[in-house]
Amino acid sequence: MKIALLGYGRMGKAIEAIALERGHQIVYKQDFDLQEGTLQAAQVAINFSIPDAAVQNIKTAMDAKVPVVCGTTGWLAHYESITAYCHKQQSGFLYASNFSIGVNLFFKLNKALAQWMAPHSSYQARLEETHHIHKLDAPSGTAITLAEGILETGRYKQWALDSDQDSDLSIHAVRTGEVPGTHTVHYTSAVDEIQIKHEAFSRTGFALGAVVAAEWLAGKQGVYSMEDVLNVS
Ligand SMILES: NC(=O)c1ccc[n+]([C@@H]2O[C@H](COP(=O)([O-])OP(=O)(O)OC[C@H]3O[C@@H](n4cnc5c(N)ncnc54)[C@H](OP(=O)(O)O)[C@@H]3O)[C@@H](O)[C@H]2O)c1
Repeated sequence: MKIALLGYGRMGKAIEAIALERGHQIVYKQDFDLQEGTLQAAQVAINFSIPDAAVQNIKTAMDAKVPVVCGTTGWLAHYESITAYCHKQQSGFLYASNFSIGVNLFFKLNKALAQWMAPHSSYQARLEETHHIHKLDAPSGTAITLAEGILETGRYKQWALDSDQDSDLSIHAVRTGEVPGTHTVHYTSAVDEIQIKHEAFSRTGFALGAVVAAEWLAGKQGVYSMEDVLNVS
């Protein structure tokens, strides 16, 4: 498969390594100060650029009739307009806040646990996420997806960073060292606590998931998620 890499930072490089290992070809690479190869030659684009560049990169690929797998977080205010643009351009689009297969199973576990916990008002939920110091957005896109899974129950009004209101689902974001990504959901009562936690050991899981998603999306039109790729919807 011929792949375009939009964003050639830490994730772009990890994705390149996995893609080559799986027998794919990188036909286009774009970074802030790099443009190499031909975007139009790609069967699929994988965007892991910075939040401010994501929307334009996605549109440019869709204009070139190249479907896009997007892992950049922190641009979701534009999600509706991008999916509309995808339909208009008859292109393909798949966004995931986290491409790791383990995290996508963790999302399912989080939703199930949220349903079980919702009637138990003695437990207050909160989220904690820890990432490396280079990460530009907070909270992480993964934490927002986890929060949305819990908000579906109607037990909390909204998520908010470091809130002490019972009606809010509080998210605490920690930035330290080179941590690839750790997410913990806590349910705390006066007498005990339940925790579920996912800890990434490296970027390899994200990169592999993004390449698997790209293999799945190539040749398709429409808007998809990792639930479609993993067949767990
Ligand atoms: N969904 C997931 O599974 C997942 C997993 C890990 C990370 N992420 C997200 O993926 C994104 C990238 O993470 P990262 O760790 O790889 O960050 P990174 O190392 O900072 O890489 C981002 C790259 O984008 C480049 N860039 C800047 N402007 C660009 C443009 N107009 N077009 C193309 N590239 C451009 C940057 O170049 P310069 O450095 O020269 O500015 C940088 O090399 C972040 O939003 C992060 O939160 C998602």
